[in-house]
Amino acid sequence: MRPVLPLKNRKEYKTGALDDDKLPWIPSVLFEQWLSHALHSKVEEPLAMHLATSTLKGKPSTRIVLLRGFTGKGLAFYTNYESRKGKEIAENPYASVTFFWPALERQIRVEGKILKTTPEDTDRYFDSRPRDSRIAALISKQSNKIPSRTYLEKLFQDKKEELSKREIKRPDYWGGYLLIPDLYEFWQGRPHRLNDRVQYIFENGKWHKARLAP
Ligand SMILES: Cc1cc2nc3c(=O)[nH]c(=O)nc-3n(C[C@H](O)[C@H](O)[C@H](O)COP(=O)(O)O)c2cc1C
Repeated sequence: MRPVLPLKNRKEYKTGALDDDKLPWIPSVLFEQWLSHALHSKVEEPLAMHLATSTLKGKPSTRIVLLRGFTGKGLAFYTNYESRKGKEIAENPYASVTFFWPALERQIRVEGKILKTTPEDTDRYFDSRPRDSRIAALISKQSNKIPSRTYLEKLFQDKKEELSKREIKRPDYWGGYLLIPDLYEFWQGRPHRLNDRVQYIFENGKWHKARLAP
């Protein structure tokens, strides 16, 4: 079969390396180092992560969400609990996220179990969002069908007028999730596709580190 396009984009990766003697024993330390580097580099949308969830029957779906917090415990993001991802997480709490930072030739993959963030953390984040984004969260039944763009904008304007200068309370269906990692994989592009891959798996109460073939 002939390809639709001549797919000839072939890049040599040569920006960095993952040295065994510089690897920490705990992956969150390396995650923070890489994240901090990405935040201070020319990486676009460094906090954007591909989130994969799946139904109980194993049918996967992915989308981008923004990392909004990282503690030793986990990775936080915020969304609508009644969205497609929210329903899948309710059925099956196991998920995976991937960061790809092309300017650094780096990928990080994190897998684990998802919990909801506490109401206090969720409220703190919700209250920090711009007023119009909070109104958008109130009126958007994320992932449901809507008749038109006009319908959405009218809902938004009506809600804005209704609330005027009143306080905006977070709706119950909007909130945060915390991905508690049990696997991290760090990927650094290297010449000739001999890329560096280092995996950390949490088993029997501790992290186990291994180098993987590219
Ligand atoms: C750069 C970028 C950032 C996004 N950040 C979020 C986010 O933090 N939370 C969110 O719910 N959706 C976010 N979205 C939208 C999601 O990708 C997705 O369209 C939405 O969450 C509905 O997904 P679902 O139907 O699978 O639940 C973002 C999209 C992009 C492209």
